[in-house]
Amino acid sequence: MAVACQSARVFGPLAAAASAATREELMQGRRRSHGGSSSSSRVSSTEIVRCSFSSSSSLSLLSSSSFLPRRSQKQQALMMRVATLEESKKMMRMRIQCNSSSSMEETSSAAAVQRKKRPQYIPNRIDDPSYVRVFDTTLRDGEQSPGATMTSKEKLEIARQLARLGVDIIEAGFPIASPDDLEAVKLIAQEVGNNVDEDGYVPVICGLSRCNKRDIDAAWEAVKYALRPRIHTFIATSEIHMVHKLKKSPDEVVKIATEMVAHARSLGCQDIEFSPEDAGRSDLEFLYRILGEVIKAGATTLNIPDTVGYNLPSEFGALIGKLKANVPGADNVIFSTHCQNDLGLATANTLAGAYAGARQVEVTINGIGERAGNASLEEVVMAMRCRGQQLLGGLYTGLNTKHIAVASRMVSDFTGMVVQPHKAIVGANAFAHESGIHQDGMLKNKATYEILSPDDIGLIRTDDAGIVLGKLSGRHALKTRLVQLGYELDAKDLDDVFKRFKAVAEKKKNLSDEDLEVLISDEVFQPEALWALSDLQVVCGTMGLSTATAKLVGSDGVQYVGSAMGTGPVDAAYKAVDTIVKAPVMLLEYGMNAVTEGIDAIAHTRVVIRSHDPLTVTHAQTGSQVARSFSGTGASEDVVVSSVRAYVSALNKMLTFRAPRKEVKVVTSSTEPRVSA
Ligand code: KIV
Repeated sequence: MAVACQSARVFGPLAAAASAATREELMQGRRRSHGGSSSSSRVSSTEIVRCSFSSSSSLSLLSSSSFLPRRSQKQQALMMRVATLEESKKMMRMRIQCNSSSSMEETSSAAAVQRKKRPQYIPNRIDDPSYVRVFDTTLRDGEQSPGATMTSKEKLEIARQLARLGVDIIEAGFPIASPDDLEAVKLIAQEVGNNVDEDGYVPVICGLSRCNKRDIDAAWEAVKYALRPRIHTFIATSEIHMVHKLKKSPDEVVKIATEMVAHARSLGCQDIEFSPEDAGRSDLEFLYRILGEVIKAGATTLNIPDTVGYNLPSEFGALIGKLKANVPGADNVIFSTHCQNDLGLATANTLAGAYAGARQVEVTINGIGERAGNASLEEVVMAMRCRGQQLLGGLYTGLNTKHIAVASRMVSDFTGMVVQPHKAIVGANAFAHESGIHQDGMLKNKATYEILSPDDIGLIRTDDAGIVLGKLSGRHALKTRLVQLGYELDAKDLDDVFKRFKAVAEKKKNLSDEDLEVLISDEVFQPEALWALSDLQVVCGTMGLSTATAKLVGSDGVQYVGSAMGTGPVDAAYKAVDTIVKAPVMLLEYGMNAVTEGIDAIAHTRVVIRSHDPLTVTHAQTGSQVARSFSGTGASEDVVVSSVRAYVSALNKMLTFRAPRKEVKVVTSSTEPRVSA
């Protein structure tokens, strides 16, 4: 392997090893086997479609012997999907043909629903009975997913994308959780919360708080800069939570809830959401009582959480219906759904809730969130768009769904939460048709197998003009393609992507849309670069320990060089980086996949790390201190370089958080009440 690494330099050790193997086989006149998935069986260089593995927390697992697939090593749980080249090509052709035929009119009920004008924003009222507000909690509930920590810069980027998408309310965070959280919410309130578009749309910026003054004051401190600020406060109402978590009687809980809603109101906030946590398991009569009281105290939205994802759709729909019918004052507030996905029913429950009268749905991009996640924005919104007219009494949202694909990609990159290929709407296979029968049907009429068009979510997989991007393509062609894909980059980001594009195109003949997207992730969707990988050299193989030399450029512009030995090339390279950065971490997760088929494919790596000296944050619901973990992604045609880029990206994210921070100063403000119009 060491010889191969050095002599076949073009596509990194894996390709070099594969081409060395190919030569060896040719010399021996042996036939290569198809479909082998272990390192000992030969894999044709043209057959690898996707390869990923995850390890436990030890770097030593990434040894050269374990780096290649080996089924027998349980901890590495390596999976390699192998398809014949012919199958892959067929699938690509299919995608191209499906997407190049333009109209969806002749298809089905998925025919595009015209976007209607969004009703004026009034906190406790919506003048169009069919309009459903979309409340996105990716930055709050979504960030509570393990490893999904985002920097303030990343949160701001996501908030901007959510505004492009047109969500009505952005829950930007839990400001009391840490000084970073408060700052991030404030930044979003100041920037995104003041950016009014030509139709008068500007998202409401919301901050979460438990029912106590410190939390509420912190939330107000963060959101008050927005044109439409909202405080969301919650307290548990199920018996199990009141007895075991809060250790409070129902009367005490009602008193706290009403006093705290009144307190939020007294700060000048006119848009107050109240959530009875674990409503899905709470006593109905108690819910009627507490919700009636908080309405009197000034709540304008009542959010009904199925906190533990326990309800079935009929049950959750009935709950919303009963609350609307029996809570005193229900006509003067908006009811909202918040459905966790523990039984895989979050989307179904959310739709059932909306059908029963809820006019706000709480959702996250890609469905990320606590445990099994939350209701997925793209599923709920596209279900309403696809079937709302026919089956949901005409319910609709104000979203411009063409921004969904980019939002999904961004959230996946920033949180490190990979979207499963078969995920509805945004998964890699959501619009792929592989079987012959399906392909045949699609060619005759797309409606045979497609209920939505990829265009509806901004997924444009084919250049209609037939332009293939390669090494001769210029900056303008690249920019045009990126805009078609939904990425509008500023001049500096475009320059960075163009440089990477040129470098990759020198080695890889044609760059697909997937390649371009991964280059954007690697160049643009990255944390502040406190350290940047400049050069890397690795010697690895079966003849001894691997050695690596890494050259990093620090934020001071100075180059630092470090060398180390390791049990494998990635281990050695990570240790070389450690000698420079000197921030001891544990590697919690490592995964790699090839972006497209072919041995010259770009390798995309994701890692999750945690500092030995952990940074903690207050968990919104349990109140406990949770150690933050940080994800990073990297891409390169060379698997080791890709791995190191991901590691440096995660270190940058972690170090950004560790930079000296200001104390949170929560000043109860006497700002004038705002008029939400
Ligand atoms: O799941 C839940 O109950 C929540 C509330 C804070 C709304 O996230």
